[in-house]
Amino acid sequence: MVSLITLVVTSQKGGVGKTTVAINLAHSLACRGWQTLLVDTDPQNSVGLSLSEKTRRCPGYYDFLHYECDVDELIIPTRLPELHLITAGLTETFFKLETDTSHYAGAVARMLGQLDGLNYDVGVLDTAAGLMGHTRELVRQADFALLPQQSEPLGVRSIIQLLEGIARLREEEQAIVEVAGILLTMVDPHGEESLQVACDLRMLVPGDTLLRTSIPREQDFVRASAHGVPVALLYQKLPPAALVFDQLAAELEPRLTLQKVAYGEREFTRLMD
Ligand SMILES: Nc1ncnc2c1ncn2[C@@H]1O[C@H](COP(=O)(O)OP(=O)(O)O)[C@@H](O)[C@H]1O
Ligand SMILES: [Mg+2]
Repeated sequence: MVSLITLVVTSQKGGVGKTTVAINLAHSLACRGWQTLLVDTDPQNSVGLSLSEKTRRCPGYYDFLHYECDVDELIIPTRLPELHLITAGLTETFFKLETDTSHYAGAVARMLGQLDGLNYDVGVLDTAAGLMGHTRELVRQADFALLPQQSEPLGVRSIIQLLEGIARLREEEQAIVEVAGILLTMVDPHGEESLQVACDLRMLVPGDTLLRTSIPREQDFVRASAHGVPVALLYQKLPPAALVFDQLAAELEPRLTLQKVAYGEREFTRLMD
């Protein structure tokens, strides 16, 4: 049986591209053959946008968090057999007022434990901004964290805070979460500011923390997220914006230890017989 590798997509600030990254990366991983589960843990419920009326009435992450239903009941298949998702769930459970949040640790552990028995290779967890409440638990209990960073000068400080926050979780709470990488998003390839941010980050963070792949600022992402779909599904042929996520998936696979199966011992394929 395969065991689930969880990748939490997290940032201090909102609007840096977390949801865009989670949806498109999950789609690319699934297209590359990994059994992938995308979990929306943000009450903005962006992943649920493109769903039909029927699936919108399905319970999701918040229903599990508050009422601990069976995780099986939350999983929604998609047009890709390798991609399943769990939405944020039924709106009324998002903002259930909770004064006692001590059960979050157990609830997240139970959810991840149940998902582990379901034969997924990778779970991509989209989160709300900040390291608080159950989001903090998701980061604490995940195997890896991916940190999208909008390429603007003010963002550099918040990424350092986040790295420190994750380091504290590892030191003080024995969390196993490892930083899979910082991903620059909304990069303007011709903008000096974007290039400067990449340079600044390279100086500030350890060696290979900054991923080689970065996500360009492109209108197609805005269009795709308005419909709640991966950019790969916007047109008949894949646009450049979608191919960037294939590259990101390929770069992340070894970091997520997914490569064992993908690049196993196998002779290369000859172009001709
Ligand atoms: N690479 C990009 N290029 C252009 N617009 C983007 C890009 N990534 C995200 N956006 C847009 O920015 C907004 C915020 O992105 P989103 O993924 O929802 O961020 P978050 O989940 O961190 O709040 C959305 O309208 C989205 O379409
Ligand atoms: Mg979001």
